[in-house]
Amino acid sequence: MNNKRKLLIYGATGYTGKIITARAKALNLDFEIAGRSEDKIKAMARELNIPYHIFTVDDSKAWERALTDKQVLINAAGPFLLTAELAMNACLDAGVHYLDISAELDTYRLAESLDDKARVAGIQLISGAGLFVSYDALVVHLSKLVVKPEYLKVGFRHYGGFSRGSVLSSKNIADLGILIRKNGEILNNPHPRSKVFSFGEEAVECMPTPLGGIILSYKATGIPNIEEFFSLKLPATELSDLTNENLPDGPTKEERAAGRNGIAAEITGKDGTVVKAYVDAPSGYDLTPLSVVAVAHRILNNDFKIGYQSPGSAYGEEIIKDIPDTHLIDIRQPTQTFL
Ligand SMILES: NC(=O)c1ccc[n+]([C@@H]2O[C@H](COP(=O)([O-])OP(=O)(O)OC[C@H]3O[C@@H](n4cnc5c(N)ncnc54)[C@H](OP(=O)(O)O)[C@@H]3O)[C@@H](O)[C@H]2O)c1
Repeated sequence: MNNKRKLLIYGATGYTGKIITARAKALNLDFEIAGRSEDKIKAMARELNIPYHIFTVDDSKAWERALTDKQVLINAAGPFLLTAELAMNACLDAGVHYLDISAELDTYRLAESLDDKARVAGIQLISGAGLFVSYDALVVHLSKLVVKPEYLKVGFRHYGGFSRGSVLSSKNIADLGILIRKNGEILNNPHPRSKVFSFGEEAVECMPTPLGGIILSYKATGIPNIEEFFSLKLPATELSDLTNENLPDGPTKEERAAGRNGIAAEITGKDGTVVKAYVDAPSGYDLTPLSVVAVAHRILNNDFKIGYQSPGSAYGEEIIKDIPDTHLIDIRQPTQTFL
């Protein structure tokens, strides 16, 4: 019998980690928390009455102990450039499925590079199981509506400001330049131009920004040409002072509840057919916890695919139904008439 039925949340006391932990508690999942800051972890464990582990991310012995009876890890400790590799290796060693909420493309590439090891270890390895759960679901949905999908364009309208962790991580995205996928290869876009996307009632001009679909949605669909756009400038490019202490924690619960996130996508098939749809979802710092816990929940019910995966390659479009208050809406094209 498989006794490994538990979830571990590392980085549980961060801004997003706290919301993830609250969601796991609300769903009554069997989970424990972990992190490097003793006072914060003990206080949270006391408040929620759950077991805890205190260790730095480079402590392999502590990982071994913490993961011993676990089925899945959610790594919420970002910037992930500093934590993902060590946490992924710990999961590979322990045979525990790995999820994180990274928005950093380099950790997606890292997960991709560990595909063989993940298969040998029998684990599912997903970096980017936050925003990309609904993002990938949308792309997979549209990709089935055309014959031979050739071009994908995605616009992301973010609401709710940025947390400290997101500001710091956004530097790791901005430093990469404007990456796109062209004919199957990732390269810098020599002529980046903004594009207007429709999110239902609202049309928003979005700026070329690599969000990660060039890796994750490529994994999910194999579409060879992918460009991504964002409604805002990446926060690291706007702020002159990226000192940890000077950054705000993140939006309040009321601020998060006051708006919605939108993800709009269009796919062009080989015959020129264009299909469009969008996702209407809770704002970012509510959506990501709902999404990553939905994936963990699936794994706890033995629903996973071993190896490096994206949310879409593992779960397709159906998982969007697991995310509360999140809707996929097809945009009907005006019927063309030829006189
Ligand atoms: N794409 C998405 O869907 C999405 C949405 C939300 C957040 N995120 C990402 O999630 C990450 C966390 O954001 P946040 O808002 O929760 O930030 P935060 O409030 O600053 O929390 C970061 C957490 O990570 C821990 N941590 C940071 N560096 C660490 C290290 N080297 N070793 C061990 N623990 C470390 C911190 O521990 P201490 O408290 O001990 O410092 C804290 O618990 C960011 O990278 C952000 O981009 C992604």
